[in-house]
Amino acid sequence: MLLENLVERAPEGLEIVEVAIRDFPFFSQDDESDPPADVVAAKALIQTCDCVLLVSPEYDFGVPGFLKNAVDWLSRPFGDRTLVGRPMAVCGASTGYMGTIRGQLHWRQSWYFFKAPVFSEAELTVSFAAKAFDEERRLTSELYATNVDHFLTALNDWLVRGCTPPK
Ligand SMILES: Cc1cc2nc3c(=O)[nH]c(=O)nc-3n(C[C@H](O)[C@H](O)[C@H](O)COP(=O)(O)O)c2cc1C
Repeated sequence: MLLENLVERAPEGLEIVEVAIRDFPFFSQDDESDPPADVVAAKALIQTCDCVLLVSPEYDFGVPGFLKNAVDWLSRPFGDRTLVGRPMAVCGASTGYMGTIRGQLHWRQSWYFFKAPVFSEAELTVSFAAKAFDEERRLTSELYATNVDHFLTALNDWLVRGCTPPK
């Protein structure tokens, strides 16, 4: 639902497209040289993008396994350029008080390995997610909506500047 709100509220010039990862099988290194069609398609899409935006829940104070599994597929075989050097931004929604911030820090660790710039000029955490969205799947609070807009505008500006800090 957070992703849907991000897509809807994206400022002009920033297009957010969802990468289909739902049907990725469990990663096995035995299969990495012959990946499934869904992985091949996801890689091709990401390679056309300026940035990977992770919209991630937090599981057990860390990253959710299904999304880590997807990143593992997308990063292999070693030397693949889909994620290496590709800028990343992370945000998330969770039912707890901390709104995925611990999981977000874990994601930054993986992008350290990918030698890529990571967006740090704004943070977006949606806590108490069970109450944060209404029946139309939109954010209920003005505060969250404002935070989303600030995050997206800062992200767009950062990308336009070539992932450099503001002057
Ligand atoms: C295995 C599991 C672990 C979870 N761990 C956390 C956690 O560490 N912190 C937190 O705030 N919420 C945690 N939650 C609640 C999730 O944040 C909540 O289920 C999430 O917002 C739902 O997103 P999803 O349906 O996209 O997975 C956990 C949920 C599951 C299923």
